[in-house]
Amino acid sequence: MLKEISVRRLTPGMYVSLRNVPWFRHPFLRSSFEIKNREEVREIIAIGRETVLYDPEKSKAEPLKADSRIKVDAATAKSAVSHSRMKFEKASELRARRVKFQRMEENFEKAVVESRVFMSGVMSGEVARCEEAKKTALQMSRVFLEETEMCVSFINASATDDGQEFHSLNVMTLSLMLGADLGYDAESMADLAFGGLMHDIGLLKLPKGLQIKPNRSPAETKMFQEHPRLGVSVLSRMPDISRDVMKIVYQHHEECTGRGYPKGATKAGIIPPARIVAIADTYDRLINTRDPSKAVSPHKALALMFGKYKDRFDPDMLTRFIKILGVYPPGTVCRFTSGDIGVIMSVDPKDLLHPEVILFDPAIPKHEAIIYRLGIDLDIVVESTLRPDELDAEAFNYLNSRTKIQYYPSPCGH
Ligand SMILES: [Fe+2]
Repeated sequence: MLKEISVRRLTPGMYVSLRNVPWFRHPFLRSSFEIKNREEVREIIAIGRETVLYDPEKSKAEPLKADSRIKVDAATAKSAVSHSRMKFEKASELRARRVKFQRMEENFEKAVVESRVFMSGVMSGEVARCEEAKKTALQMSRVFLEETEMCVSFINASATDDGQEFHSLNVMTLSLMLGADLGYDAESMADLAFGGLMHDIGLLKLPKGLQIKPNRSPAETKMFQEHPRLGVSVLSRMPDISRDVMKIVYQHHEECTGRGYPKGATKAGIIPPARIVAIADTYDRLINTRDPSKAVSPHKALALMFGKYKDRFDPDMLTRFIKILGVYPPGTVCRFTSGDIGVIMSVDPKDLLHPEVILFDPAIPKHEAIIYRLGIDLDIVVESTLRPDELDAEAFNYLNSRTKIQYYPSPCGH
């Protein structure tokens, strides 16, 4: 609960909120923070307000008993001006990151529309559509091969229906991320991309109701488990589909334990790219469930895959997958040591300790939200993870928490 207090009773250790002061009128990068020293007290006084808000619960120090007689001299005013200037320079750098994310979202929107067209085209046996889908998959695989510094970033997509194309794009992106990390060559990456994109094409042959049904009868389960075979039969009507792509589609539900389907093959019998797609597919099905109330956070999904479901997967690939995504994968909503709430936007596999985050800050309009790098722009770390339903409505809306957690490649921002 925030309380109003005279600026002359502030002291280091108090947690203040400048949410009532326009962001461009104060020299601080954040509008809520703990006062570190007396210089910062002076800078707050220099803003020219009689009172500010502070948070007694987050404060480590009590307010002064009476107003201090701190003077705001010319030196303080000058330092506040130079801090403001630094803030603006820094802010423009941070805002440039937002542009990168906006561009990525535009590319993603296009990919969703295209995929929808490809899928229905392939289903109706249109060779031209299949060739276009192959071309898109090839381009995507090249992005991961040719750009040395690629990150997988979070996009909050608002899918209105089950959106098979959202799942297919996620599986393709995550599979390519793992394939690139494992050193796959151009041809293997192209197969991985196309196989990832098409892995569930057989589902489109099944009644829609069956796909989304929560409790299937044994007969319905049997029918559902036909989708890898159906996928192969759809693709076999198309020319020049590689053997690996067919195998990815056929084997993406096989498990290293031999308890998967359709064949119950064990690790040695499952081709490596199908093992990759199985990991990406399971991860996406956990975070983007058909029933959103059953979805788990990206952080929890990795914990489940590395714990309860571990034996299903190729252990080396699973370890790599977790290493690339980080302990708190993009899309994870977190509480930080500062008390802030935010969402992880992007993780650089080569620099896992400094992910990009958006913090909930009512003082900065949502469309201008700043993307910070943890540990570089802000000296805070993750304290715990939150489920979207644990957020209040304002934070939920600000952080764009919706139903789908979508991944897409973007250049790593430094
Ligand atoms: Fe599937």
